[in-house]
Amino acid sequence: MKSIELNIQDAVYFAEKQYVSNKDKAVEAMTKLEDGTGEGSDFLGWLHLPSETPESLLDKIEKTAARLKEKCDYVVCVGIGGSYLGARAVISALSDNFADFYGPSSKSLKVLFAGQNISEEYTAELENLLTDKRFGIIVISKSGTTTEPAIAFRILKELLEKQVGKETAKDLIVAVTDEKKGALRTLATQEGYETYVIPDNVGGRFSVLTPVGLLPIACAGFDVKKLIAGAAEMENTTRHPSEENPCEIYARLRNALYEAGKKIEILVNYNPKLHYFAEWWKQLYGESEGKDGKGIFPASVDLTTDLHSMGQWIQEGERTIFETVLTVKKPSITRRIPEDAANLDGINYLAGKNIDEVNKMAELGTKIAHVDGGVPVIKIELDKLEENTLGQLIYFFEKACGVSGYILGVNPFNQPGVEAYKKNMFALLEKPGYEKETQAIKEKIK
Ligand code: PA5
Repeated sequence: MKSIELNIQDAVYFAEKQYVSNKDKAVEAMTKLEDGTGEGSDFLGWLHLPSETPESLLDKIEKTAARLKEKCDYVVCVGIGGSYLGARAVISALSDNFADFYGPSSKSLKVLFAGQNISEEYTAELENLLTDKRFGIIVISKSGTTTEPAIAFRILKELLEKQVGKETAKDLIVAVTDEKKGALRTLATQEGYETYVIPDNVGGRFSVLTPVGLLPIACAGFDVKKLIAGAAEMENTTRHPSEENPCEIYARLRNALYEAGKKIEILVNYNPKLHYFAEWWKQLYGESEGKDGKGIFPASVDLTTDLHSMGQWIQEGERTIFETVLTVKKPSITRRIPEDAANLDGINYLAGKNIDEVNKMAELGTKIAHVDGGVPVIKIELDKLEENTLGQLIYFFEKACGVSGYILGVNPFNQPGVEAYKKNMFALLEKPGYEKETQAIKEKIK
């Protein structure tokens, strides 16, 4: 069942000419993607992943989650970028807003994240939290050598081994990594950790529907089978080029807007549970398209919160932006606004309404204001925040991203620019093997 609707009427007007002329490019991009004849086609493992995910893998994931649940209250997912954002996005979208403050429950593990920064305070404070607690670790790295998760894992592993002993710790650590190569694979084999494979042909930012995302999501108590089923439904309905295909429409339209001068896309939500979904989306589109001196800059705001900080810019700043609004039809829980006898705040006219009615009017009012202010608005409406719908949405954005990159004329599946900061950091830290770079960078900063 389709639980996502794409509405382009408030955006297409701005780039009608470009949208029409992009039709052939969009069909070509869709065909290249499905046929595997475009650039980067070694990394198309995600394309038919939902429909080809074996039930046995999902059963195994659920079993691991149940095993960890029996032995732990917390599980720390150690990973960064594509090895982190997808799980965080889905867990946050499906969780109670205040889940962090409830503490461990009998139903699911508390999922925490580490290795997504190099903050000493973050790591030390996490260690403080986990001291004397029952915890496990899911360490996720395709390469197995990424600095941020490597530091966090070393520290958390040491803490865990100190608390439960080396042998028991092995049972509480699960590694998600390459099938054969890399430091993490070697360590996992040496120590005998349970492992999951990140398929060779799936890049980090397309890996949420592999064990990279699925294991943490299952640990948080959510139904990975429904998530995959939703993604498979979207895979099925978006397989062929067609003017009705939402992936083709979205990819074609955002490129048309870009050609018409809209260089920044803001992913907007009216529900704080979608904050991390936007973070995931930013990596997906930013890393896939920002290369060769081109690409839409993906930004995001949480509304109405950010209307009180970024609203001015969006309404009247440089007219180089368009918005894609993610909106959820129905909240999962309702609350009416009460009457107040004094009515000092003047909001008695809202008494008796559900808060969501106000949110929806804020959304409509904002859309009209932004369109009037020269900001085209694409709308993506979700029935509700649940696993199946999120699976559909993830696949929709992934496929549209591949199509969009091909329309733009880039390889959407590489990320050569990510290495630049690493090279400088290693040179500055005097990593063995980087002697020449160290010397060069020292000259530069003298
Ligand atoms: O999309 C990507 O390739 C990156 O964001 C990686 O996922 C990230 O750098 C982590 O890499 P790894 O999984 O090798 O530790």
